[in-house]
Formats: sequence, structure tokens, C-alpha cells
Amino acid sequence: MSSSAIRMQTAAAAPEARGCALALAGIGHSFGGTIALDAIDLTVAPGELIALLGPSGCGKTTLLQIIAGFLQPSRGSVAFDGLRVDHTPANRRRIGMVFQNYALFPHLTVAENVAYGLRARQAPRAMIQSRVAEMLARVQMTAFGARFPRQLSGGQQQRVALARALAIDPVLVLLDEPFSALDKNLRLDMQIEIKSLLKSCGVTSIIVTHDQEEALSMADRIVVLNKGRIEQIDTPDALYDAPASLFVNGFIGHANFLEGRTTDPRGHVALAAGGTLALPQAGQRPAGTEITVSIRPENLTLSAGDAPGAIPTTIRVVMPLGAVSVIECVMASGESVKVSQSRAAWSGQPGVPAWLGITDITKVHVFDAPAGSPSITRP
Ligand SMILES: Nc1ncnc2c1ncn2[C@@H]1O[C@H](COP(=O)(O)OP(=O)(O)O)[C@@H](O)[C@H]1O
Ligand SMILES: [Mg+2]
Repeated sequence: MSSSAIRMQTAAAAPEARGCALALAGIGHSFGGTIALDAIDLTVAPGELIALLGPSGCGKTTLLQIIAGFLQPSRGSVAFDGLRVDHTPANRRRIGMVFQNYALFPHLTVAENVAYGLRARQAPRAMIQSRVAEMLARVQMTAFGARFPRQLSGGQQQRVALARALAIDPVLVLLDEPFSALDKNLRLDMQIEIKSLLKSCGVTSIIVTHDQEEALSMADRIVVLNKGRIEQIDTPDALYDAPASLFVNGFIGHANFLEGRTTDPRGHVALAAGGTLALPQAGQRPAGTEITVSIRPENLTLSAGDAPGAIPTTIRVVMPLGAVSVIECVMASGESVKVSQSRAAWSGQPGVPAWLGITDITKVHVFDAPAGSPSITRP
């Protein structure tokens, strides 16, 4: 192994943290009468990779533009490393931006695109040359410096956009839906590549997405936004395992929502779909409280025969998806429930009766909002 390869490995193992700490306090923004953001508080550690996740129109781009300094918020403040930047213009904030459509300059070559921010800062020519070479090498585009953006594939354009964003040695990189123009197949590869690149640079990064899988696979922590407000800030695992609201539960992963009613204050619940559950997490509610019970498809099992506590259902559709099958069942209440089983574990056909069991009762979530609430409708 050459000495430079060894140096690179060491650098990758122990990235120098050179991203800034970011603090948003009480950010609010209105466009005329429309409230786009309300009371946003967020602190981000140096080098952290944060995803802003939420449905279209929830305020993600507006928040990114406020952090970048393109938009002055109606209320609140933005601080980098403890210093307020509210009056610092965008081009003085040392931010690298990657836009949805990459926004490469079509009349400039790849190398000129990457050099753009350095030229604008009037960096010395020799420094620009070496920095551009370094960045192109980093995104494996060294051979493409003389090409124009139209001569590149989507994935290659995205690498150039990232090289351009990183060339100015930013303290913060902001990426707005950076993968939306890519094929689904290419997307996962690019997500892995860009995540490892951002992490090896040690730069603080915020990626905006409406795609929960993208947020789960890339981010250290996810900020879930809904209608301009933060619903929850947490690690991917915590959001999945302990969603703070019905909205988060419905937005992250798949969930079955069933209507229920407590029958005593100790957590016994009668489901509208039939059957009774003992759910300690539903306790502390008076008997007769209407609730929504949320059960993930992988927390349900199907069996062909009745068993104690099992809930009767009827198979509607069996979808073999490779290793697992997703089986859609219809309950006596008319509610539909999805079950995820290993393909080998279930061979029942549509139309046959079956019984549902819950694998881990502690992973069932209980919410006060009604199951039909519009707040849980997916985009
Ligand atoms: N320039 C603008 N003028 C008026 N309304 C806007 C403008 N930009 C965004 N909005 C509104 O603000 C809300 C948030 O928009 P945006 O931040 O673009 O959402 P997202 O990026 O999550 O899809 C939406 O209701 C949108 O219609
Ligand atoms: Mg947007």
C-alpha cells in the first residue's frame, strides 16, 4: 500500500471536525398570510448530518434558505458557533449548497464549475487549480474536468455539484432534495457515497428530503417537520421505535392504525376490528377513551388457526416482495391491515380466514387522536 493510501485511510478513520455548530432559535416565517415556519428551535453539533424530513409544502426549503441567508426570517435568529449571523449576507456564511437540479452552470466546464466559488472569492490562481484537482479527485471526476454539464450523467452532475459545494471549504453544507432527479437504483449508491464524503470532510450538513428512507439511511438525526412546525427531533432508530406523534408514526416506516377504546384504566383495549389487547401503554386513560392503536406490519404474525388472544381476519392480497411477503388483510370492522412475514412463513391464499397475533406488545403505540384524523394521511 502506498503511503498516500495509508494517509487517506487514517484521514477517513479520524475526520477533522471542521463543521460549525448551528443554532436556530424561535425561527418563524410568513409569506403574506401563509405561515411557512413557526417556532423552530434546533441545535446541530459540528460534523453532524441532519435530515429535514416532511411532506411537500411543510417548510423545508424555506428553512434551508433562512439558514443559508437567502431569506430573512420574520422572527428568530440563526447562529454559527454561537455567533449570530442574522445580518451576515449569504456569500459570507461559508456555506456550500447543493440544489435539487444540481444548478450547474451549463456554459462552464466541470473544472470551471468547481472553481466558481473560489474565483468569486478571488482566491489565487494556483490555489484554485490545486483545490479543483483535489475536489475532482475526491468525487472521482478527475477525468471529466474539461467536459460540460450536459455531457454528464445525473450521478456525475451530482458529484460535480457536491465538489463545487465543498471547494470553498464550507463550515456547513446544505442539500435540498439532492437525489430526487436520480433513478431509484442509482440513488442508494449516491446516498452512501455522499454520506461517507460529508462524514470524511467533518463538515456539518443538512439534507432536505420528503423521502423517509433517504432520511433514515443518511442522517445522524432527523427533524420531522409538519405544517411548518417540528414534530420530533431524534435518531432514525428512536423515531421508528418511539414516535412522539401519530404523524411521525405514519410518516416514518409503515404502520397499521386501528381504532380502539379503553375498557378500564389499566390498559385493556377493545379494538373496533374485534379482539381485546392488554396494552400497559394505554393505561392512565379513563375507561371508554377512544384511541388509535399503531402496529407495524413486521410486528404482526398470521396463523391459519385460532389461538388465545388472536384477532380474526380475512386475507385480501398476498404480495411476494422477495425475502418477505406483505399480506393485506381485511378486518371485521372493514379496516385494512398489512402484515409482513418471511415468504416461507405464510402460504395462505386470498379469501381464506386467518388469525392475527402481535409479536411484541411493547412495540405497539397508542395515540389519543382518532385513526381517521387527516393529520396522519401520507403525502
Ligand atoms: N416565495 C414564496 N411565496 C409565497 N409562498 C411561499 C413561497 N415559498 C414557499 N411558500 C409557501 O410556504 C410553504 C412552505 O414551502 P417550502 O418551504 O417550499 O416547502 P417544502 O420545501 O417543504 O416543500 C408552502 O405553503 C409554500 O406554498
Ligand atoms: Mg422544497
